[in-house]
Parts: sequence; structure tokens; C-alpha cells
Amino acid sequence: MRDSSLVVVANRLPIDDSIAPDGACEWRRSPGGLVSALHPLLRHTPATWVGWAGSVGPVPTLPDVDGVRMRPVPLTPEDLRDSYEGFANATLWPLYHDAVEQPQHHRRWWEAYQRVNRRFAETVAEVAEPGAVVWVQDYHLHLVPALLRELRPDLRIGFFLHVPFPPPELFMQLPRRAELLRGMLGADLVGFQRAQAAHNFAQLVAKVLDLPATDRRIGIDGRVVRIGAFPVSIDTAEMAALAARPDVAARASRLRQDLGRPEHVILSVDRMDYTKGIEQRLKAYRELLVSGHVKVRDTVLVQVAVPSRERVGQYQELRERVEREVGRINGEFGRVGEPAIHYLTQPFDRAELAALYRVADVMAVTPLRDGMNLVAKEYVAARVDDTGALLLSEFAGAAAELPQAYLVNPHDLEGLKEGLLAALHAAPTDVRERMRAMRAHLHEHDIRAWVRAYLNALDRTDVLVDRLTSADASAPPAQRDRSAAAAEGRTGA
Ligand code: ADP
Ligand code: F6P
Repeated sequence: MRDSSLVVVANRLPIDDSIAPDGACEWRRSPGGLVSALHPLLRHTPATWVGWAGSVGPVPTLPDVDGVRMRPVPLTPEDLRDSYEGFANATLWPLYHDAVEQPQHHRRWWEAYQRVNRRFAETVAEVAEPGAVVWVQDYHLHLVPALLRELRPDLRIGFFLHVPFPPPELFMQLPRRAELLRGMLGADLVGFQRAQAAHNFAQLVAKVLDLPATDRRIGIDGRVVRIGAFPVSIDTAEMAALAARPDVAARASRLRQDLGRPEHVILSVDRMDYTKGIEQRLKAYRELLVSGHVKVRDTVLVQVAVPSRERVGQYQELRERVEREVGRINGEFGRVGEPAIHYLTQPFDRAELAALYRVADVMAVTPLRDGMNLVAKEYVAARVDDTGALLLSEFAGAAAELPQAYLVNPHDLEGLKEGLLAALHAAPTDVRERMRAMRAHLHEHDIRAWVRAYLNALDRTDVLVDRLTSADASAPPAQRDRSAAAAEGRTGA
């Protein structure tokens, strides 16, 4: 059956596992950049989303959500363990993030990864209309573009990598490096967060596959594959509107009161992941408490760390270490009713997140390596009064777009401490100037500019692009022109 002209393919479906008695199904908005990025675009666009429903065994029948058709791909317990938890999250994920944890290699994981990628490709081949645009997302699905091209040569196929793409010396460690590159080259357009990643990819293709490759184009089997950088973004206007809501402002005031009306609130919001630099940040914070540069009476740290990939050993060990350290710091420096760190592991709804962003005088986003980091962008969008200091790692993709942030190297403990103190004690005029510049950038470079740039580069300058970016239609003509030009200017392909 052919049923849609746009098919998004991602590891996860974006909807909640639980379905109400009336059959209604809520968008999940699970903690994670991919769903956060695509959700605001697709919720009112006729499209199909192919992905894993979040549980093993037979797939549930899912209702459409806001016009988006959900097509679950079944995974067995072995698929989950060996493909998602194994090859995707214990081989590729650490390798792609500077090998900050040791990547693990098992032949069984590679077999499962191939099997699961094939199942995804077959599902897409089944549901895509003739000539449809298929947009494959992220490192779980590197093989899908080539498998799909074999099954359905009529499709227009895009691939976008949300995470960093490593330099050749790291990627070369992968036993199946050639197959992974060939898999991606099944696409018509391969998009990355940063130009450096596209450059790494081109170098690898030339070296491993001996194909003609520049940072913009690669020739394979008589076709041209375009490559380029398309930094992903957020729905800036949506977050700003949420943060400006009176109930969110009231919630933020209440939060400050509940935190003991400190002079400074520092906030971090991460998935519990070793790439996010949580341990390094806690270490820096503890040293500032020890030296007396930071005092619990006037400063609090709120660390939100929602558990992630909980069955993967490296993630379990990280959580244990983080919780031990938070306990140690609170034991040493907290007082009754005044913990040094407020540690929260719950998922929050968007309004609560916006209130947290509003209450944070300093937002500490210090990953060791991150493809983009949408939390940093959400914080900026939420600071509607141009206050608030963003402490940002040089190793987050967002740093290239937000150079006005207080930039730090999270591997440099002294530098991290200095950066945190600089952000805490910055002059209000400096903070305001920086925040204003960052907000202006995100106003133009929002999620619609991203999708427009990507799909235009995929040669779809028609109805689909207009539909997905239709919120622009309410903007004044001059602004529409500027954002279209900005989007085209950023197209690396
Ligand atoms: P990653 O994709 O690696 O998780 P990003 O910072 O790019 O990192 O994206 C994380 C997304 O998840 C953001 O949109 C953020 O708002 C959301 N998120 C993070 N923690 C929570 C939480 N505790 N509750 C709800 N959403 C969260
Ligand atoms: O950004 C990388 C990523 O893997 C996304 O694909 C996803 O949104 C997020 O991290 C959360 O990961 P997971 O789906 O493994 O919980």
C-alpha cells in the first residue's frame, strides 16, 4: 500500500507508549533532540513516521496523530539488545563522540544492525508512495538509504546525522567502515550538523571506497550524492511564547521561592549520558564550593539528568558515579532544607522546562562532545527579557552558532571553573548584549529554516517545503524573504 509523499524514518516513533481508552495517542516528546526537532514540523503535516514503538514483540496498531501516520517496526529482545543497545549505542555512539568511553565491537551486534536496518528499509518500501521523499534520521539507520534504493529506486532519499561524524582516525577503527559509508551513499543528500563532519565524511569516502569526493559532492554508480552542513534547530517562537506565558512566569517565581530565593540559580538539563560532561561539571562545582568561590547560601545548582539507555553498562555505571558524587557534595556542603545540588531525574513537560529555563541565571551546557545540543538553544529562546548567561562547551555543535555564549573547554577543569564564575558574575549589560545577539540568531535560524534548507537541497522546492514551513506564512514578507535567504545561505550542498 502506498500512503504518503513524505516518510520520516527514525529509530523511535515520537508517540507515547500508552494509548487512552478512546484510542487517542499523545505525542511523546521524549527527552532527546531528534523528536524535539521534528515534532513541531510534522504535527500538522500529512506524513508517515516509520520507527520503533518502544517495546519488544508484536507491534501495536497505532492511530494517526495530528495527521501523521505511525508505522511501527517490530524489534525482538535480541534486536534491541544487539542493534540499538549494542551496535548503535555501545559501538557507534562512543566512537562518534571522541571515544570518551571505549567503543565495543561484537560481530553479533553487526549482524543484528544489518537485520534491523533491512527491516526498516522494507517497511518504508512498503508504505512510500511512488516518487515520495524519504528522510532517514541518525546513526541507528546508516544502512537504510542503500537498502531502500535497491528496493525502491524511484524514491528521493535524504539522510541526516544528528550526532557528530568523527574524524577519519576514529572512524577507521570500525571493522565494517566500508559498509557503513556505502549505506549512507544510497541517499541523494547526506546532511550533517557541521561542515567539519561533511569534510570528514568526504575524506573517508575517498580513502576507504576510492570514490571521487569533495566536501559537497560524491560520485557513486553514475549518481551524484550531495553532502553538506545543516545545523538543526528548535521552534524558537514556540519556546519564546511558552516562556512568556503568565502561568510559566508565575511558576518560575514559585520555583525561585522554593529554591530559597538564592542570588544565583545555575541549571543543567541533560540526558544521563557520559558525553554530556555531567561528572566534570560536578567536579568543578565541588572545587568552587571547597575554595569558597561559591557558597550554598547564595547559589544553587539544579541538575536535571533524565535516565537514558538504562540497560547499557556504561550508562548504568555513569548514573551510579553521578549519584554518588551528588550525594557526596550534598553531604559535605548542604544544610537542612538547603541542598547544594537539586538533583532531578524526571521527564518534565514543556511548560515546566520553560519555567526552569526562566529561573536559571546561568545555564551550564558543557558536553564533552555533542552533535548540536538543543537544550542550549531552548534556554536562549526562553530568555525573552534578554537576561541569563549561557555557559557553553566549545565541543557542542551549538557553539559554532552561538559564539556570544561564555565558551569553555569542559576537559579543562580550571577553565570550567573560571567560565562558571565569569558567567555568574558577568555585568548585566554584557549578559544582555550576548543574549540579544543569540536570540536574534535563533529567531532566523529556527527549525523551519533547517527543514527548508535541507529539503530544498534535496530538490523539493515545492508543496512539501511550503507545507512543512507554513508557520512562516504568518510572518511579514520581509522576514519571510530573510529567513529563506538565510536558509539557502546555510546550505552546504
Ligand atoms: P540529545 O539529543 O543528546 O538528548 P539535545 O540537547 O539536543 O540532546 O536534546 C535534548 C532534548 O530533550 C531537548 O529538547 C530537551 O528539552 C529535552 N529534554 C531533556 N531533558 C528533559 C527532561 N528531563 N524532560 C523533558 N525533556 C527533556
Ligand atoms: O541525538 C541523538 C539521539 O540518539 C537521538 O536520536 C535521540 O533523540 C536522542 O539521542 C535520545 O536517544 P534514545 O532514543 O536512545 O533515547
